[in-house]
Amino acid sequence: MRTEEPLPIRLADYQPPAYTIEDNNLDVRVDPDRTIVKAKSRVRRLGAGKAALELDGEDLELLALAIDGEPLATSAYKLSADKLVIASPPDSFDLEIETAFSPRENTALSGIYLSNDRIFSQCEAEGFRRITYFLDRPDVLARYTVRIEADENAFPSLLSNGNLVDSGELDGGRHWALWRDPFPKPCYLFALVAGSFDLLQDSFATRSGKAVSLRLYVDPGDAARAEYALDSLKRAMRWDEETFGREYDLDLFMIVAVRDFNFGAMENKGLNIFNSSLLLADPETATDADFEAIESVVAHEYFHNWTGNRITCRDWFQLCLKEGLTVFRDQEFSAAQRGSALQRIKDVKRLRSRQFAEDAGPLAHPVRPSRYVKIDNFYTATVYEKGAELIRMLREIIGEDAFKRGMDIYFERCDGTAATVEDFAACFEKAAGRDLSAFMRWYEQSGTPRVRFSERFDAASGVLHLTARQLTPPTPDQPRKRALPIPIRVGLIGADGASRPVRLDGENEPGTEERTLVLDGDETTWRLVGLDAPPTVSALRGFSAPVIAASDASLADKMRLAGFDSDAFNRWESGQSVTRAALAAAADPGFDDRAPTMADAAGVFGAVLRDTSLEPGFAALALSPPDEGEIAQAVSVVDPAAIRATRQDLMRTVAQNHRLELKAIYDTHASAKPFSPDAASAGRRALRNAALRLLAELGPEEGGRLALEHGAQADNMTDAVAGLVALDASGSPAFDGALSEFHTRWRAA
Ligand code: BES
Ligand code: ZN
Repeated sequence: MRTEEPLPIRLADYQPPAYTIEDNNLDVRVDPDRTIVKAKSRVRRLGAGKAALELDGEDLELLALAIDGEPLATSAYKLSADKLVIASPPDSFDLEIETAFSPRENTALSGIYLSNDRIFSQCEAEGFRRITYFLDRPDVLARYTVRIEADENAFPSLLSNGNLVDSGELDGGRHWALWRDPFPKPCYLFALVAGSFDLLQDSFATRSGKAVSLRLYVDPGDAARAEYALDSLKRAMRWDEETFGREYDLDLFMIVAVRDFNFGAMENKGLNIFNSSLLLADPETATDADFEAIESVVAHEYFHNWTGNRITCRDWFQLCLKEGLTVFRDQEFSAAQRGSALQRIKDVKRLRSRQFAEDAGPLAHPVRPSRYVKIDNFYTATVYEKGAELIRMLREIIGEDAFKRGMDIYFERCDGTAATVEDFAACFEKAAGRDLSAFMRWYEQSGTPRVRFSERFDAASGVLHLTARQLTPPTPDQPRKRALPIPIRVGLIGADGASRPVRLDGENEPGTEERTLVLDGDETTWRLVGLDAPPTVSALRGFSAPVIAASDASLADKMRLAGFDSDAFNRWESGQSVTRAALAAAADPGFDDRAPTMADAAGVFGAVLRDTSLEPGFAALALSPPDEGEIAQAVSVVDPAAIRATRQDLMRTVAQNHRLELKAIYDTHASAKPFSPDAASAGRRALRNAALRLLAELGPEEGGRLALEHGAQADNMTDAVAGLVALDASGSPAFDGALSEFHTRWRAA
C-alpha cells in the first residue's frame, strides 16, 4: 500500500525547461488495440550545465530509442513508471522514440482512446505523455508534422492540427494523411481523430479576405443537428474580429463531436473536440438553454485560438491566463448576442452559486493557486469564473479604452509565447500608465470580500458621504487577508426616479451619470456633492466586483432601485433582494420584522409588468421569484414546505393582481413563425413562459387550461417543458396524463 502523500508542485519552484523541442514529427499507425507512434523531434539544450533530459511518459511500451539515428544503449537511459531519463545527451540532436499503447484499453479518456469505434485524443492537461515520451509542459512549444495511417474502411477520416498537406492510398486497404501545423504549440494542444463521420461544411471569409474552410465532423446522420453550432461559430469568428481585432490564422477550422468525453469541449489548435451534448441540437429535443450553451461553448473554444493557443500558459499555475480570460471573452460574446443585462444576471447567478460556494468551503483557493498536487483538480469555478471577474474588474478600473489598448499590447507582445499572469498585467500597466501591483492581490487571495455601504446626507451642504468598508473572512488555506482594490460603479437616483449626476468633491461640474470608485483600503468615504435632496445610491452597478455587499438602504430605497434604476442589473438585484427578504420573512417567523411584506414583493412584479421598455429576456428573469434554494439560504430555520407555500402565495397574488397584463404578455409574445433558436425568439419564449408560469397559479380551471393548450401547441422542447411545469403548478388533474404522454413521446429521443 502506498501511504505517502504525493508532493505538491509549487509555483515558487518554477524552473525553465533544461531542454526544448522545436520540431515534432509524429507518425501514428492507428490501431484500436495497438497503436504505434514514431516520434522524431529536434531537441536542443537550453542554458549551461549538463542536466539529464527527463521526458514524461505514462502507460507506454517503449519499442525503440535513438539519438541522431543511433540506437541508444540501455545503459544510456533509465526508464521508470512515469519518466524516461537520458543521462547525457548532446547539446542539439534528433531524438527518435517508438512507443505502443492500446486505445481500446485506455479508459482514462486522456491520451488516445477509442469511443464508438472511433479514435480520439485528449491531451490537456497532461495526456500527451500517454502518446509518446515528451517534455509534457506548456512552456515547450514545437511545430508539429503528423502523419496518420490507418485502415481506410474503419477510419475514413484522419485528422490532426493545422493544414492538410498531403494524403494517399496504400496497399492492403490502408491510407494516410499528412498534417502540418505552422504555429508552434505546447503538446496539450495536439489532437488526433480517426474514424467515420458525417460532415457539415461551410466557409468563412476573414476580414482580410482569407477563406477559411469550416468543417464539423459528427456521427452519421447528425449533420443537420450541428447547424446551430456552425452558425454560432461564424458569429463568434466575426465578433472576435470586430471586438478584439483577432482573425483566424489557418486555412481550416474543424470541430469533431464525440460521445465519450470528460469535459464539455477542448480547444486543440484548428481541431476542437466537443462532447456531442454541446454541439448537437434540434428544436424537438433541445431547449433554448441548450442552444445558448452551444453558442457559448463553441465561442469559448474558438476564442482560445488567441487566448490559450497563440498565447499559451508558461505553467499550469497560470491556467486562469487562458481560462479566465476566455470565459470573459465568451461572456462578452454572449452579452452581444443575447443582451448584456440578461447575460450579466445569468453569469452572476452562476458565480454566486458555484464560485462563492467554493470560496466559502474547505477547498477555497486563489484564482492563481500557489501549489497543487494534481492540476486536473484545479479546473474550478474559481479559476474560470472568478478568473473572468478579475478581467472584468481590470477593465472597470482602468477604463474601456486603456483595457482595449492593453489587450492589443498583449496580443502583440506575447504572441507565440508561453506567458504568465505578470506578463499579462504588464501590458495593462503600460496601456494605463499605472501601477497595478495592488490589483494583483486578487490573483493570490482566496475568499469573497464582504463590502458594507453606509451613507450620510448633509442637507445644508448638499453632500452625500458614501462609505464603503471591506473585510474578507479567513479561508482554510489563508488565515490572514489583505484589503483589495474593489471597483464600485455608482449611480444616484432621485425621488422622481431620474438619475442625479455623480460628482466628487473637488471635481468640475457637471458630473457624470455614473462612475467607478475604487475602494483600495479597509474603508473609504467619498463626498458626492451638488445634491439638493438625499438620493438613492445604486452601488456596485453591473456587479462591478465579485463581492458580497450589504447596506443600510431602506426598503423605500430598494423599491426605488427596483422600479427605476437605469442600471438593469441593479434593478433586477434590488427587486430580487426585496422579494427574497419578503419570502424569507413569510417563511420564517423568527425573521427580521422590518423585512418587506408580501405586498412589497408583489409591487416589485407590478413595476416590471408596467414597464414595456424592458427586453423580453430580462423581463422574464425579473418575473421569476428567487428559487427555493435561495430563499432557504436567507432564513434562519429552513422549513421547505413553508418556503414552497410562500413562494406560491406570491406568484398567485401577482397572477390575481395582474391577470390582464399577464394575459396580454402571453398573447402578444406568441409567434406564428416556425421555431427559430435565435436570441430574440428565445427571449420572447422566455417571457411568454414566465407569464404562463404565473398565470398557472390561477388554478386548474383557467391556469390549467392555458397550460394544457400551450403544451399541445408547442413545436419545441422549451415550450413543451414550460407547458408541463405550468400544468403541474396549476394543480390540474390533467397533469399525470400529460406527463406520461410526454414520457412516452420522448423517452427514446
Ligand atoms: N481547455 C478546456 C477543456 C479542459 C478542461 C481540458 C479541463 C482539460 C481539463 C476548455 O477550454 C474548457 O474550458 N471547456 C469547458 C467549457 C467552457 C465553455 C467553460 C468545459 O469543458 O467544461
Ligand atoms: Zn477553456
